Amino acid sequence: MFYSEELVEEVRSRNDIVDVISSYVNLKRKGSRYFGLCPFHNEKSASFSVSPDKQLYNCFGCGAGGNVYTFIMEYENYTFQEAIKMLAERGGVELPKEEEQSLEARRAADFNALLLEINKEAAKYFYYQLRCESGAQGYEYLNKKRGLSEDTIKKFGLGYSNKTSNDLYQYLKAKGYKDEVLKDSGLVTISEKGNYDKFWNRVMFPIMDVHNKVIGFGGRVMGEGEPKYLNSPETKVFDKSRNLYGMNIARTSKRPNIIVCEGYLDVIALHQAGFSNAVASLGTAFTSQHALLIKRYTKEVLLTYDSDNAGTKAALRAIPILKDAGLTAKIINMKPYKDPDEFIKNLGAEEFQKRIDEATNSFFFEIEVLQRDYDMSDPEQKTKFHNELARKLLTFSEPIERQNYIEAVAKRYDISVNNLTALVNSYGYRQVATEGQAYNRTENKDRKKEKDSTIKYSQRLMLTWLVEEPELFDTLKGIIGPKEFTEEFYGKVANLLYEQYELKKAVNPAQIINSFTTEEEHRQAALLFSTSLREELSGMEKEHAINETVKKLKLNWCEVAGGRATDFNELMEISKVKQSLQNLHISINKG
Ligand code: GTP
Ligand code: MN
Repeated sequence: MFYSEELVEEVRSRNDIVDVISSYVNLKRKGSRYFGLCPFHNEKSASFSVSPDKQLYNCFGCGAGGNVYTFIMEYENYTFQEAIKMLAERGGVELPKEEEQSLEARRAADFNALLLEINKEAAKYFYYQLRCESGAQGYEYLNKKRGLSEDTIKKFGLGYSNKTSNDLYQYLKAKGYKDEVLKDSGLVTISEKGNYDKFWNRVMFPIMDVHNKVIGFGGRVMGEGEPKYLNSPETKVFDKSRNLYGMNIARTSKRPNIIVCEGYLDVIALHQAGFSNAVASLGTAFTSQHALLIKRYTKEVLLTYDSDNAGTKAALRAIPILKDAGLTAKIINMKPYKDPDEFIKNLGAEEFQKRIDEATNSFFFEIEVLQRDYDMSDPEQKTKFHNELARKLLTFSEPIERQNYIEAVAKRYDISVNNLTALVNSYGYRQVATEGQAYNRTENKDRKKEKDSTIKYSQRLMLTWLVEEPELFDTLKGIIGPKEFTEEFYGKVANLLYEQYELKKAVNPAQIINSFTTEEEHRQAALLFSTSLREELSGMEKEHAINETVKKLKLNWCEVAGGRATDFNELMEISKVKQSLQNLHISINKG
């Protein structure tokens, strides 16, 4: 059911966020906001706040945040559709009756249902084959060679694809499925030369989505052979970047977090050993959609990537993705073993639990890896390392969190807290907002990444200012517009804010959140609108910071636009903008 923007906004505006949240959380007014204990994580002091002006809530402790819809969706575990129904009723707004789905939408839904049916039939077929005489070798491999119990094999629905090259195809045909559908299932190859099964002579791992629907398969050779694993291709129902193996079981686990590992057999071995919270990506890199999927069920992820170089790299890639999604990550040390399966075989579940208890916080893991590049006995290298540390510490945008980390890092690396704080501050707003001479000097391999995050930061800063002091729209007229916000998400937000300001000379952050569909976007937007910078900068500092940020945004735009430019005139325009920056100075009226 699709509801118009106007209706979504009307329902929102009829439900005051303070009223709604008050019926779930005990709120106390403090200044312009209400505070209470966050319902989304365990805490003793109130870091959860609700702003009646902005109609937003936000938690500094766990990063939860959004408007009244987000709150209801998160608290009640509702979909948007369920949330709007509830809030409409509460606010006395009548919603239109559900219409018929369009024919096209129904056809697509039917086709997907058919693919799911076929996958389920195939899973049943493989499962049955594993228990036939011809499947004895497969059963033996799983049970004897890999140590999986009958219960485990059953629980994961493991199977076997036999040596005949087209029996699954024949079986599915006999069930009445047509070639046109079968060819899109990823299970068979339909061609003029003949129709064949994709999998044969392999043990089979059915891959299920969170609703326990079989969406694809992984198949492993029994012993040596290439390729070791063969996986279903992506289909209409199998999106590897949105699904995690084992999530259908892990989601109901009582354990407080999710363990992310690399292989099917790692997941299965962990579950067999009692770690029912293990999942794996499907032979592909970890994505932000994976992180969002996990975030529906938990706030903490434990990573168990191989202890080798490639595994470390994979972990370093996954950490920022998890962080961006608002998850905390810890890294499990599996040395001297390669993966959880081997670890458990050799040292057992108890030892693995110990490793979980000792898991390294992702920030410390990152700096441990970083430290490997520096010779700490050389004062110059050591200083460089400390500077790197300071810049990394700056990535914590919450002052309290940053201070806690500064203290922890200072202790660990034997630096005085005061010195480290001073170093971090020296990298503070001004430098972050300045075209980074600082990081141009360092030989850091991740320079580009860091530059990206500086650009992101400047855009975020500017949006926060615009929301807090809408007069800035006028001050910056003709200088900064939506196009300078080159980050996709910030660009969307900027467009909406400028539109609102143009129409009403005011901004309405809570309405903007309606335009976003994912909980993640809600969280990000709420965070954006709830960060208050006002107290942190004096008038002079602010003017300076705004000027630097404006320059930074424009320089970045020049770079982006320059990269896209196709003709000479365009390039000339861009270079003019760049030159004009040298003399640009914006004065801010204080008031
Ligand atoms: P075992 O050797 O059976 O213990 O598997 P593993 O999970 O330890 O193997 P590995 O670390 O090599 O692979 C991890 C995951 O990557 C597997 O579960 C697969 O999803 C994927 N993978 C491994 N080898 C291949 C391959 O040859 N092709 C494809 N497409 N995926 C693979
Ligand atoms: Mn393995």
